[in-house]
Amino acid sequence: MTTIESFDPASLEARTDPWEFYRWLRDEHPIYYIEKYDMWFISRFEDIWITMADTTLPLYGREVTHMRTSQLLVTNNGNVPPNRVAQLPGFPNVDSPDQGALRGLVNQPFRPGSVRKLEDWFRDMVRSELPDVLAQGYFNLTEALGRWSTRTMCRIAGIDESMGPRVRELVNDASDQTGDPTREFDATGMGELYGLLVSTVAGRRAAGADGSLPFIDKAIKTGFQGREMTDVEITNQLMTPLVGGVETVPKVTAHGLWELAVHPDQLAAVRSDLASNASKAFEEAARFCGPAQSFHRTVTERVEVLGQVLEPGQRVGFLTASAGRDPRVFTDPDEFRWDRPIERTLAFGQGDHFCMGTHLARMEGRIMIEEFLAAVSDYEIDEANARRTKSTFQQGWDYLPVTIKSYRDADGVEQRPAGRTPVQGNDNEDQR
Ligand code: HEM
Repeated sequence: MTTIESFDPASLEARTDPWEFYRWLRDEHPIYYIEKYDMWFISRFEDIWITMADTTLPLYGREVTHMRTSQLLVTNNGNVPPNRVAQLPGFPNVDSPDQGALRGLVNQPFRPGSVRKLEDWFRDMVRSELPDVLAQGYFNLTEALGRWSTRTMCRIAGIDESMGPRVRELVNDASDQTGDPTREFDATGMGELYGLLVSTVAGRRAAGADGSLPFIDKAIKTGFQGREMTDVEITNQLMTPLVGGVETVPKVTAHGLWELAVHPDQLAAVRSDLASNASKAFEEAARFCGPAQSFHRTVTERVEVLGQVLEPGQRVGFLTASAGRDPRVFTDPDEFRWDRPIERTLAFGQGDHFCMGTHLARMEGRIMIEEFLAAVSDYEIDEANARRTKSTFQQGWDYLPVTIKSYRDADGVEQRPAGRTPVQGNDNEDQR
């Protein structure tokens, strides 16, 4: 790679291979300013760990998660509007204490106890459908795993499970900028998803919202600050959990299984006690393969951060993917090690906006690794045909073809599928 002189997360180079850029930022510019976006980027683990969690700092989540490049190009004039509670946006775009109150209306299905109750259903679904998937011999591993995380989110959101493939397609298409750096989130697809959720909310309200679907019913029944919430306001609370629950877990898990396949010693070690080891392997996959690159905040008052003065209206990007590869915290960070001790992780964020789906993600990832490795005795990822999303937000492998060389069918009989010719080729200019 040529010498790095600047960083722009929207450039094709940074989206294709961000790791050298992150190393350069961590070593040379731990807080880095980009004039055209009037935005700062923070790249070291420790700096992000402290800054993201510090609720005394005037860095707010109003523009949390990801901002489109065109939004970043509009310089904020310093006048940051207060929480818009008259027409409620989704809680990821609201500051505390309103953020916590709104999040509390929808987070019940994601609490540890609720996730534990889902576990048997999830495992049964994976176990019963896996043999048919494996019998194909050659398929997209991310998509195969994604059908289960999507179905889970459909169940939680009261969406007919037959809509699962369409929901997944809409979510994935929205964040794919592959081949077109100017392409932004696909508002059309998001509109369709939004419409689906609005009608689901309206249906729950009409049916009496009896509490059997807490993700939606609690907001209908409780409202916010003593008033009812509209269907649109409730839908605004549901969009991020739905999107977050669909695309992340399968990308992390499939990539983790790929890393295990190319490290046979590690694969053998994980297999030696799947029930104990799968969760560790998933945790390392979330560090090493985490698709989300950065999360954004807005400065509301003049403040000094890491030796720089940040002005109101400027944005701050926390490069959490870079934090996961920081050698100051992780030994040999660019190596996948399934049993690496991970005492602290930023893979799920930090502070008020800490990922709401962490327990669900960990449960799904662990079970999918366990069940896949229990059933499949030999597999290989077709690297030449793998395809990675190259968006500024998501870097995950959405097309990860796998060849199943041998697996145990539903009766426990060893099968060797004939395999298939790849059905979807591509140019694969990416490297892992
Ligand atoms: C491996 C899987 C996942 C990863 C790596 C991940 C990562 C993250 C990260 C880094 C954040 C912090 C955003 C910020 O600070 O601005 C976040 C927030 C969030 N995640 Fe996840 N996530 C995953 C799975 C899920 C799942 C399964 C759900 C389903 C509910 C979910 C829902 C959310 C929501 C709603 C937020 C926003 C929380 C808030 O603003 O209060 N995520 N996620």
